[in-house]
Amino acid sequence: MKKILLITAILLVTFSLVACNQITNNDSSQNDSSTVANSTDQSSENTSENNNASNENKVNSSGSNVLIAYFTLPEAVDDDSDTVSSASIVKTEDTVVGSTEHIAKMIQNSIGGTLFEIETEKQYSKEHDPLVDEAAEEQEENARPELSSKVENMDSYDIIFIGYPIWWGDLPMPLYTFLEEYDLSGKTIVLFCTHGGSRLSNTDNTIADLQKDATVIHDALVISRSDVAVTEQEEVDRWLESISLK
Ligand SMILES: Cc1cc2nc3c(=O)[nH]c(=O)nc-3n(C[C@H](O)[C@H](O)[C@H](O)COP(=O)(O)O)c2cc1C
Repeated sequence: MKKILLITAILLVTFSLVACNQITNNDSSQNDSSTVANSTDQSSENTSENNNASNENKVNSSGSNVLIAYFTLPEAVDDDSDTVSSASIVKTEDTVVGSTEHIAKMIQNSIGGTLFEIETEKQYSKEHDPLVDEAAEEQEENARPELSSKVENMDSYDIIFIGYPIWWGDLPMPLYTFLEEYDLSGKTIVLFCTHGGSRLSNTDNTIADLQKDATVIHDALVISRSDVAVTEQEEVDRWLESISLK
């Protein structure tokens, strides 16, 4: 009887050892697979960390912190004028926009952001000669034309694109109003302009003087009005890449 009990006990111990061993093996194989899973996770975490690191200088991918403010004054043209020869407008199939607005939209197309047109209470003439005289008079008077459009939530933007045509070798006077109306301290200001030959005309330094506590990117996108309609999206993209905004 004692022998039978002893044999039963030995068998029980043996079975339980084998069972234990199997459970341990299963656990370790689970561990193995979870280790693989962990290492996969880790490697994907690393990748996203790297991505995050390399995205540090880039614009928020949704473009939600980007404001693209621009002033434009498309001149009146007859319906027959084509996109390229027209002085100050870009005609597409269904829109006619000023040169500066056209470039603003290309920037938005590339990185997103909110378009904002700087508009004035007064209506400028759309005829070239009276407009040129009006602008000259405003400049002489150092006028500050009142704006009719307002940025409601300037605080929510970190990157402010400012686009304008060159008028009489300077900023159009409504740009002075805009730059004096908002405090852009701590923000990054990125410039683009269209012109008829005067290029940037030192307006980057004028803007830096008006917004001393902002970071002004002096590498502006400067496009002649005769090139606006034929400017490729890639050119705008390349400029944005060159200033680490894409
Ligand atoms: C009132 C006025 C003054 C201008 N003065 C200059 C100038 O001094 N230098 C220049 O290169 N272009 C000058 N231009 C040309 C504009 O800068 C150019 O046509 C610009 O692309 C117009 O942009 P918009 O269509 O967005 O208004 C002037 C245009 C106007 C209407």
